[in-house]
Formats: sequence, C-alpha cells, structure tokens
Amino acid sequence: MQIQKPKGTYDLTPKEAFQRTYLENFIRKVFDNYNYREIRTPTFENTKLFKRSIGEETDIVSKEMYTFNDDEFTLKPEMTAPVIRAYIENRMFNDAPLQKLYYISNMYRRERPQAGRYREFSQFGAESIGSADVTADAEMIFLADAILKGLGLKNYKIRLNTIGTIAERSVFIDALKAYLSDFSAELSNDSKRRLEKNPLRILDTKDPKDLRILENAPVLTDFLNDSTKVQFEKLLSILKELSDRIHVDSRLVRGFDYYTSTTFEFVTDTIGAQNALLGGGRYDMLAEQLGAGQTPAIGFAAGMERIEMALKAESVDIPKETEIMLYICSAGESPRERVLEIINKLRAEGIKCETDFLGRSVKSQMKDANRMNAKYVIVLGEDEINNDTAELKRMSDGNTQKISGLKQIINYLKNED
Ligand code: HAM
Repeated sequence: MQIQKPKGTYDLTPKEAFQRTYLENFIRKVFDNYNYREIRTPTFENTKLFKRSIGEETDIVSKEMYTFNDDEFTLKPEMTAPVIRAYIENRMFNDAPLQKLYYISNMYRRERPQAGRYREFSQFGAESIGSADVTADAEMIFLADAILKGLGLKNYKIRLNTIGTIAERSVFIDALKAYLSDFSAELSNDSKRRLEKNPLRILDTKDPKDLRILENAPVLTDFLNDSTKVQFEKLLSILKELSDRIHVDSRLVRGFDYYTSTTFEFVTDTIGAQNALLGGGRYDMLAEQLGAGQTPAIGFAAGMERIEMALKAESVDIPKETEIMLYICSAGESPRERVLEIINKLRAEGIKCETDFLGRSVKSQMKDANRMNAKYVIVLGEDEINNDTAELKRMSDGNTQKISGLKQIINYLKNED
C-alpha cells in the first residue's frame, strides 16, 4: 500500500509553500519593526521542562505530548517554556534587562485532528521578558494586532481578561470547586474530571449544560484585589484605540498553569470551531519556577494554519509565485548545452530564467513557457548562437524584437524588473 502522511500533518506544495514563506517574511518584518529579535530552540526538550511549566494536569501535558519512549524528551508542544529555558541557560538577562524575542517554528501536539487543529502545526509568537509594567502587556497586544491587521484580516475580536495573582486565583478556585461540587453529577465527563484536577479549565467548557451551571458560579473578577483591577483598567485605557475589538471576558482562563494576570485570545468566527487565531498572556512566575531570579514576562503565539484559513475566508489576496522572466527554448540538439551556459550567465545577473531539460520540440517548449507564465521567450538554434543574436518575444502581446549580444539581453531584462 502507498505510504501516506501521518494523521494530523500536512504537506505544503510549492504554490502553498511560496505563500507560507510570504506570510512568514511579512510577519518577520513586523516583529523587526517592533524590535523583537529571533530566537531558535531545539525541536525537542527535556520532558520535565513542559511538565513543570505548562502543568501536569493540563490537557497538553496529560495527554497530548509526543514523548519518546525513554521518557526523557518531548517534541515541543509550545515555545514559551523553551524560550524561557534558553533565556536562563544563555544568561540573556545579562545582555539587557528586557529581552524581546520572537519565533516561527513547528509545534507538536497529539490532538484529535480537525479543521484548524493539527498534530504538527506552525506557530509564530513573541515573548517580552523582564518587564512587569502594563505597557509591556499593551505592546504585546498592539504587536499581535499589527500582524493580523497588516496581513489584511478584519474579522477578529480580542478577548481580554485578567486571572489575577496565584494567591487571588487559589481563593477563587476553592470557591468555584465548592460551587461546582454541588452539581458534579450533572457536569459533562470532561468537567467532572477537571473538577478534581484543574477546576479553572471548566470555565473553558463548550458543553451547553456546563455553561448553564456556570451561569451562577462565582466570578473570578470578584476575587481580584484592587491593585490587580487597577492594572487591568490601566491596560484597557492604553488599548483604547482597539476598544471596538476588545471584549472583556472573565471566563478566559487559557490552558496553561503558567499564566498570571493578563490573558488574551484573538478569535474569529470565519474558520469554524477552532476559532482562536492566537493566544497569550502574562506569566510572571515561570522564569523563577525554572530557576531564574524574579522575571516577569508576557507573550503570545498564533497558529499559522488558522491565519491562512482566515485569510482565505476573508478573501485576502496573497501574492503568487514570482514569474519567470525569460524562457529559452533550444531548437535542435547541440544548442542545449550552450543554452545552459547562457542561462547560467543570466542567472548570475539575478534574472530568473528557465530552459528545457527534456529534449522536447520547440512547440512543446513554448507550451511549457506559457504554463510557467514566462514573461519573455527566445528560441536559440545554431544560427542564433553563432551570430549571438536573438528574437525576444514578449508573451503578453506576442511583440518581438531583435537583440544582439547577451549583454543587451541582460540590460533589457534587468530594466524590466
Ligand atoms: P496556545 O493557545 O496553546 O498558546 O496556542 C496558540 C495558538 O496556536 C492557538 O491560538 C492556535 O491558533 C494555535 N494552535 C494551538 N494548537 C494548535 C493545533 N493543534 N493545530 C493548529 N493550531 C494550533 C501557546 O502555545 C502559548 N505558548 C502562547 C503564549 C506565548 N503565551 C505566552 N507566550
């Protein structure tokens, strides 16, 4: 039987890969503009890194990690923990008090595949490490917004919340647990399981019955101290130019243990059930938990595939592959080697050109040139090569002109760029 790609993975054929690279380049430019610098980390990490940072009872760690049999290493399911690990290991805090880092990389989660949910997927994201100031939260959200907006997306909302400090949250969790325990028989199986292990995540439920029970549940906001509330209000006021998009949502808790205070998600209703284009938040305790001094930080990550789906849903045009400037057909057997010499010279001048490698007739070479959308074509036979002349044909209107000498062709085509 023919071997197929693993479940939850995908290929990018050249046309798709070209568009992906275009998006990546655009995103890199925005990161650079905001003075975020790229960081790259290994594809796999020590399993303990994820257990300790994401949390043992989260979905990712409890059931979605690709861990090798020896149980020591895991393919990275996300980048925040690896970035902080690298930040500490490379003592990057010595270089500057604030490190603004970005990444574009593949992640791995053994999830049930569906539209917008893969087992190998690409994330781009940013981490701003070192500032507890609310302006750093705002910059992160402005950055995420600038990327989505810059790409041409319009239909998305920003869900924003604060989940407070660990102390504030733990009082809330106790109250939530006490309330939900009275309904434990009626909760969905997922929520029943979470009630013991990770009750906060029940707030994320999509089960209608759970949602009804939650209507009268304690609300996290009521458990926050004044200082947390003041910070959040300050954040909202800095983000005022995004206020049309922002929806404060006290249910937004996100699926990682490392979050503190600000959490956010950019969601869209154009791509189906997996509607989060990106998610992030503050994680002020993580670096300390992994062995650094006190290091507040905030970041986000976005799913590239979901962004692509949203661009398609909103009919945003992404540039197509760049066209071939010149296709050289060879008429006859002997010119072919000379043609290769000539296109080498043209390519050395930065002119994108192509020729035939299959020994086809001039007619089928012309067809090939058409299929490739070549802008110009020349046909070289013995005579043309010996006389160093060529007839340059513009494919858009069939207009031809005689050109003598390779230099002249080069000059002409260079001016066309
Ligand atoms: P996350 O919410 O797990 O957060 O992932 C961020 C984004 O990655 C999601 O909003 C979604 O677009 C995409 N994504 C997640 N899982 C999949 C999947 N299986 N298939 C396709 N796309 C997916 C994080 O990963 C955090 N590290 C974000 C962060 C950075 N927080 C602070 N800094």
